[in-house]
Amino acid sequence: MPSHPFSDQQKRFLRLLELPVPGEPPPVPSPRSKDSVGHNHGREQFQASPAGVASALRMQVPETSPVPKAGEKGSATPVLSGVPSLQGLPGTGAGLPVDDPGRAPRIAAMDWVELEQAIQSCRACQLGDTRKNAVVGAGNQKGRWLFVGEAPGAEEDRLGEAFVGRAGKLLDAMLQAMGLSRTGQVYIANILKCRPPQNRDPLGLEVRTCIPFLQRQIALLQPRIIVALGRFAAQGLLQKDTPLNRLRGVPQRYQDIPVIVTYHPAYLLRNPLDKRRAWEDLRLALQVHLSLDDRSRTDSIASATE
Ligand code: URA
Repeated sequence: MPSHPFSDQQKRFLRLLELPVPGEPPPVPSPRSKDSVGHNHGREQFQASPAGVASALRMQVPETSPVPKAGEKGSATPVLSGVPSLQGLPGTGAGLPVDDPGRAPRIAAMDWVELEQAIQSCRACQLGDTRKNAVVGAGNQKGRWLFVGEAPGAEEDRLGEAFVGRAGKLLDAMLQAMGLSRTGQVYIANILKCRPPQNRDPLGLEVRTCIPFLQRQIALLQPRIIVALGRFAAQGLLQKDTPLNRLRGVPQRYQDIPVIVTYHPAYLLRNPLDKRRAWEDLRLALQVHLSLDDRSRTDSIASATE
């Protein structure tokens, strides 16, 4: 595997994040800890290699139909239909949008302007009553990378912008360590577009109600790779209730797009020793992204010589 060429600036960020810097003595291994949802980090760390990444990518079976291209009318995929832990949870009670069979297909046909308006004015669940601002996303809509978080926090709710609080600052540092930035190649979105009161966990009904917005964002963005930040992002996106640590370390798939699962930056603020594991995940993401470039180069050489 070609190692990621780290600039001095990126190395400075790695040190800032207390993460391993290539060519420097490795930091002391962290003791096992628990993540914010109580799952033990008992899984062995994934040793990424070109063969490992490629075979992991090949072995993942696409889950659903291809992503509709930007501007295309996309048909809505079932929303968390197979996720037992996200079903039957309390919700608004009245006029449930998940009972409106036309809503998801309508969202799946929206362009960016319509989608942003629909998100800003959404009152489909109870979070519409308590939010100050819905948060659509942030970054470059033409970026190759999509990072998916959980839901806006207090600062995001106040400003209507994604990842602008403390967790957002850490996310920016993580991006910079990867050689990325939200103004460059990255778009950032959340599973929920509105803040849950007191930053409580998203409810299953809220996720099911909101996920068509993210699905349409992905269809419009057409990212090359997705990084899911934390349990709710990973489970909501992949429509699985597999624990976070079983989703980490191996590329997952959303339709035909590779998904790398890692910890949420807010969790890393509370559990800084796990930044090392997060960095493993981000390196895997870089390697998978690199292998996509290699594959598309090989494909274009093959088609040019046919
Ligand atoms: N946490 C998230 O998951 N998303 C944000 O936008 C901010 C904090």
